[in-house]
Amino acid sequence: MLTDRRILLILSGSVAAYKALDLTRLLRKAGAAVTGVLTAGGARFVTREALAGITGARVHDDLWAAEAEIGHIRLARWPDLVVVAPASADLLAKMAHGLADDLASTILLATRAPVLVAPAMNPAMWEHPATRANLALLQARGVQVVGPGVGAMAEPESGPGRLSEPPEILAAIEAILSPAGRPLAGRHALVTSGPTHEPIDPVRYIANRSSGKQGHAIAAALAALGARVTLVSGPVVVPDPPGVTVLRVESAREMLAACEAALPADIAVMAAAVADWRVAQASTQKLKKAPGAAAPILEMALNPDILATLSRHQRRPGLVIGFAAETEKVVEHAREKRLRKGCDWIVANDVSGGVMGGESNTVHLVTAGGVEDWPELPKAAVAERLAQRIAQALG
Ligand code: CTP
Repeated sequence: MLTDRRILLILSGSVAAYKALDLTRLLRKAGAAVTGVLTAGGARFVTREALAGITGARVHDDLWAAEAEIGHIRLARWPDLVVVAPASADLLAKMAHGLADDLASTILLATRAPVLVAPAMNPAMWEHPATRANLALLQARGVQVVGPGVGAMAEPESGPGRLSEPPEILAAIEAILSPAGRPLAGRHALVTSGPTHEPIDPVRYIANRSSGKQGHAIAAALAALGARVTLVSGPVVVPDPPGVTVLRVESAREMLAACEAALPADIAVMAAAVADWRVAQASTQKLKKAPGAAAPILEMALNPDILATLSRHQRRPGLVIGFAAETEKVVEHAREKRLRKGCDWIVANDVSGGVMGGESNTVHLVTAGGVEDWPELPKAAVAERLAQRIAQALG
């Protein structure tokens, strides 16, 4: 049931927009309060009168009129959940890039509520690399997606792009808003992500190819299940996930200090590619080359192992998960790493391909109980699956 839950329903342009009226009827039957917002495209397919009739509330479609009446910020703050159904390729692109040139996109930029999108578009548009990239970006930020379905389209062609049926969208909404949809509520999760930078001198450092995409997606997925998340991140360019406390660090030693300061935690997911070594004596002045002088030889020192430290910590998180980036004997090395580092699970991945910085990941989950081989999935999907497994393990 969705008794008294507040849903802001945004309809963008699609021939499938009529299904949103049926969705509204189901939502109201389940007890939800629904406020409708139409984009200019949406208004081509559904009238504001029809939407107002079914929601039983005023429909908003004009940024400037909304401004005069209640303001887009108040509309953005009102809902427990924002649902975009149908979500056109255009609106997804605007969301991904933070455009805010009409009421719907402005609300989507201003809201702190969770967002569910139900895409609907022509199969070629759905499969276009631009749409794929926009969706991956949105998912990495915690936006949830239902559908699209595969089947006959309005045009004489078929493929992926059909708006999900209203009962399916309703089920996705209930999953997000019901207590069962937030199984990690009340839990604190600590996540590390990205590379570390180990200084050589004030202008040079040693780094690695980690992008932070996987770790940030895990932080977003844990937050989406209701966890309070502290994300300790090395230097990355991926955006901060919404609803997550982000602590930025540079070196392995700073990362360890930030992690220890963030304890206690129920869950620790150490996805960062921490540098194993640092330069033993980083120079406080820029190293200068002098004519005829030999190239400097850098002496390295071992960095603290953050995963192993937390696994054996006095305030050890209940579930400690490490990653193993391997180029050969992936599972064998991961098994050994799990025991050596004292963590509960290892997410092992083969990094001999282009995983580092790439969009997808093929992982094996190594636990005390055995090994699960997961198929190749987008990093956001790996994150969601891992978050679900964590929720299951914590009961
Ligand atoms: N890790 C860490 N602190 C370090 C090094 C690694 O917390 N100083 C964590 C990583 O975040 C990851 C796991 O340990 O969760 C595995 O890292 P990896 O570099 O694969 O392990 P190593 O111990 O370096 O093993 P190997 O030398 O076999 O690569």
